[in-house]
Amino acid sequence: MIDNTIILPRRTIMAALQLSHFNDVTVVLLLLLCTIITPFSSISAQQHVKDPSITSTMEQFSGYAIHEPHSSLSSLLVDAQGLQNQIDELSAFSDSPAPSVTRVLYTDKDVLARRYVKNLMGLAGLSVREDTVGNIFGRWDGNEPELAAVATGSHIDAIPYSGKYDGVVGVLGAIEAINVLKRSGFKPKRPLEIILFTSEEPTRFGIGCLGSRLLSGSESLANALSKATDSQNISFLDAARSAGYAKDVDDLSSVFLKKGTYSAFVELHIEQGPILEAEGISIGIVTAIAAPASLKVDFEGNGGHAGAVLMPNRNDAGLAAAELALAVEKHVLESGSIDTVGTVGILELHPGAINSIPSKAHIEIDTRDIDEERRNNVVEKIHQSAIRITETRGVKLSEFSIINQDPPALSSEAVIKAMETATRELNLTSKLMISRAYHDSLFMARVSPMGMIFIPCYKGYSHKPEEFASIQDMSNGVKVLALTLAKLSLE
Ligand code: GLV
Ligand code: MN
Ligand code: MN
Repeated sequence: MIDNTIILPRRTIMAALQLSHFNDVTVVLLLLLCTIITPFSSISAQQHVKDPSITSTMEQFSGYAIHEPHSSLSSLLVDAQGLQNQIDELSAFSDSPAPSVTRVLYTDKDVLARRYVKNLMGLAGLSVREDTVGNIFGRWDGNEPELAAVATGSHIDAIPYSGKYDGVVGVLGAIEAINVLKRSGFKPKRPLEIILFTSEEPTRFGIGCLGSRLLSGSESLANALSKATDSQNISFLDAARSAGYAKDVDDLSSVFLKKGTYSAFVELHIEQGPILEAEGISIGIVTAIAAPASLKVDFEGNGGHAGAVLMPNRNDAGLAAAELALAVEKHVLESGSIDTVGTVGILELHPGAINSIPSKAHIEIDTRDIDEERRNNVVEKIHQSAIRITETRGVKLSEFSIINQDPPALSSEAVIKAMETATRELNLTSKLMISRAYHDSLFMARVSPMGMIFIPCYKGYSHKPEEFASIQDMSNGVKVLALTLAKLSLE
């Protein structure tokens, strides 16, 4: 039963919006209000009539149940339980047992997870396309489709034995934000686009933010990738082809975004730190992203028998690596700033036998700071220490490469303002903060005004199975994202 007295004002608003191109986003809130008090509406009903055969065809094709991102027809609220169900379903595409998630670039699980997301984008009425490295785009054309789009998105790859929220909240949450806007009857002026970025995590090829770095136009990455191999000696291009990408393509510059493609980019993400939860604040508005660098170092010595070679005669590559790892900690602490951090997350010894002196050692170092110069200073000191260790231990420094040494990124004032206004209109508490983790936004900032929305996560845990964000916090994040996108799409 349709209540005309309630639908009339809703239609009137729609007409007014179409006439004026509704450049005032408070109208969105009015629409939300109208639909909340309308038990059924012809507009939202039309948008929710889904052909069940489409869903069942998708289920047959993909081989798993498709959880539709939809609650009741009357609700404009976030379908938070539906979002949680999707996060749980996506976490099943993993190469390690629950509750951990391991989803590495171009593996079978990654391909299945991508298909799951593309199906949800399709169900949300987005037109889906992919580029040659597998960045996935879901587009909702606005009233003026020729205008630069407003984009949002994140990643779904997961480092070994990590959790199910990192990145995923910003992809599935973005689809839900679009659903929220569609249910409200809102029509964007600029197109809205969701991006699932390929390989934000450096797990397979050692390069973080691979997809967004390429989108931002990195010539050096496009060249490096045509020669890159993983630890199994599988080339990047072969791996991409096995996942259905990079067909007949060697030149990856086709991925570069054209200047002005996006008028703004906003990423929703868990904080990955403890501040919001500890202070009881709902939303973090990110003003800057810290500058990350990563290094690969190889030492070589003579190896030999663990019993027979006497201590004064050894040149142990493993100990050289261990000494460098301690030097990393020392140089980071010497910076005197709590914002300087350094981690040795990979240390591999060859031949890896208890009774053999390591003849080769490989270590990978991650160091970051909000101050680029201070971070660069640490990188230089690590290099000097590596050289000194070769002299004191008689080993060879066979490789010292800086894989990336990225500058920090600043959020755009206009995007910050849109996020702040959305948060205020939703009566949510917020605080300005920096991101110590890196994100695809670090690179999107090179080609578009950028901003990030953080939500609290349990004890700040991330990159481990205990990672957790509450349904309420995710729902808040999705609402802020939806309203921010709405505002930016009208500018
Ligand atoms: C991203 O995952 C990071 O390591 O900051
Ligand atoms: Mn991560
Ligand atoms: Mn992430």
